[in-house]
Amino acid sequence: MRYFKLISLLAGATLGWAQEESSLTMTNPFNTPADRENGARIFLSQCASCHGRDGRGGQGTPDFTTGQFRRASSDEGLFAIINKGVPGTTMPAFGLNARETWSTLAYIRSFSAGRATATAVKGDSARGAALFRSEGCARCHVDGTAPDLAGIGKFQSVGEIRRSIVDPQADVPPQYFRIRATTKAGATLTGTRLNEDTYSVQYRDSSGLKSVMKSALSTYEIVRTSPMPATKLTDAQVDDLVAFLMTGGSR
Ligand code: HEC
Ligand code: HEC
Repeated sequence: MRYFKLISLLAGATLGWAQEESSLTMTNPFNTPADRENGARIFLSQCASCHGRDGRGGQGTPDFTTGQFRRASSDEGLFAIINKGVPGTTMPAFGLNARETWSTLAYIRSFSAGRATATAVKGDSARGAALFRSEGCARCHVDGTAPDLAGIGKFQSVGEIRRSIVDPQADVPPQYFRIRATTKAGATLTGTRLNEDTYSVQYRDSSGLKSVMKSALSTYEIVRTSPMPATKLTDAQVDDLVAFLMTGGSR
């Protein structure tokens, strides 16, 4: 379901999607460390002249480090502002595509993430570190098939990290979609989908980067769910993991 919302939002953005806050609640689908890095580049080149390199604003622009926005509070509302600008002010409309807009928003939100969350961590990070290994988190999150979680606490709130652990399927960024295919010779191929065109598809599996011609395949499917298992941990254990990740741990 989420995926269809994303598609309609991406389509809507290019067609000049409504400026008002819509009733559909959509959180930022491009909020990985790589997205925020991309967002930082856009921010520094296109936004910092008015909003300040540190996001602190001044001369009519708001201070992003407070985490409070004047014109909107939801991700969707802010998305629309970045897309459409604020009429009657110097805040221009930007010709960014949906992904660039979301990435820039992820970066803007990161100005306040540390502040908003510093007081809200209640777990025990040493117990979280032990769980991270014993529960198999490290298996995926250290070998490169899943996002590197180092420093995630600087960019995401306790609530966001908690939700990623409890409900991994909620927002799966497209760069973590996988492929499942069978070749005409009968072999099964699986891996993280990197790129595809009319003739070929590139993916990564445990042994490295691969490319296969579509003409060699008898079945081909894009898997849009997360490989990350739903957690069976208690609330307190999730708090411990969140504490571990918030304090910068990742292995
Ligand atoms: C030419 C100056 C200028 C540039 C460049 C600019 N902005 Fe703005 N921006 C403003 C001003 C002024 C406001 C405040 C408008 C108002 O609410 O009165 C604003 C407001 C905003 C807001 C709403 C803040 C709130 O509190 O609701 C967001 C989000 C935002 N800008 C994002 C961006 C992004 C992202 C970029 C770059 C892609 C950018 N701006 C580039 C001048 C600029
Ligand atoms: C089978 C591999 C796998 C395992 C095991 C796994 N994850 Fe993940 N995890 C992923 C993938 C892939 C993603 C990115 C796609 C998504 O959002 O689900 C992800 C996303 C996340 C995110 C969000 C990252 C971001 O940048 O938004 C967090 C936090 C996270 N995992 C924590 C954990 C914790 C804690 C555990 C152990 C309880 C765990 N993961 C176990 C594969 C895994």
